[in-house]
Amino acid sequence: MSSLPKISVIGAGNVGSSAAYRALELNLADVVLLDIVDGLPQGKALDMTQMMSVTGSSSRIIGTTDYSDTKDSDIVIVTSGLARKPGMSRDDLINTNTKIIKDVTEKVVQHSPNSIIIVVTNPLDAMTYVSYKVSGFPKERVIGMAGVLDAARFKAFLSLELNVAVSKIDTLVLGGHGDDMVPLKNYTSVSGVPIAQMIQDSRLDEIIQRTRDGGAEIVKLLKTGSAFYAPGVSAIEMAESILKNQNKILPCCTLAQGQYGISEQFLGLPVILSSEGVKKVIEIKLTPEEQKELVVSASHVKELCNFIDESGLI
Ligand code: LAC
Repeated sequence: MSSLPKISVIGAGNVGSSAAYRALELNLADVVLLDIVDGLPQGKALDMTQMMSVTGSSSRIIGTTDYSDTKDSDIVIVTSGLARKPGMSRDDLINTNTKIIKDVTEKVVQHSPNSIIIVVTNPLDAMTYVSYKVSGFPKERVIGMAGVLDAARFKAFLSLELNVAVSKIDTLVLGGHGDDMVPLKNYTSVSGVPIAQMIQDSRLDEIIQRTRDGGAEIVKLLKTGSAFYAPGVSAIEMAESILKNQNKILPCCTLAQGQYGISEQFLGLPVILSSEGVKKVIEIKLTPEEQKELVVSASHVKELCNFIDESGLI
């Protein structure tokens, strides 16, 4: 391994390998790709090692089934678990994925007690809660990836609609990573121009609905799995802000403790991501309607977390 920071990616499926690929592309870290299926992480890691002969990246990657290889990771990205099939909601995955996230988290804590965990597995907010509970880590060091992805989808659809550069679009999507996520119109702009000046409100609502359904649209097309390129790079966007102490404000799943009137509850909020993980939850002004939507979304996540608590799964 080199002198770069160390990211372990648990789960060498499509999301995990997309995240690994992006970390290597950015020369951000050395990567350990782990899976329980012997051969899969090793094969993908070898392929990516050969890829770097062409791309010139100096990062290293290894594939493994052995958690001791993940020892002392700076960041662990958890992608293990089942993905959705057509017709399934993210919540349908709860039983199986809770057991998987519990098991993975225990091993992560054992080998990388000082790491920051980024959870990607669905149902996202509930799985972040599971990892937080099982790890015993402070809330700053267990973060869920969803808002970056949901915002990316919103920006992509707006860019297609307006035919403007996506890099100049800014937005925030809060709430749980589900059908009741809360895209914020008032914080959506193109080169600083409020989105309301660029598009009819009724059309904007249609684009917001497509954003909410963004994951399901891809599941329906793929038929055998769910999205992975955008989820993978979104996790690395968070990892980069942490490893480089960039202090980016990103919508991430975090433990609310009174912010927005929500307490002891994981859901997507704007946070500053620094080397310590979640440095701060930013409180911004919402419309009464958005505030209501956020509370509804939080109550949905709470139901799932209560179900997990009562099920004895963790
Ligand atoms: C999606 C899955 C990853 O939104 O939740 O595509």
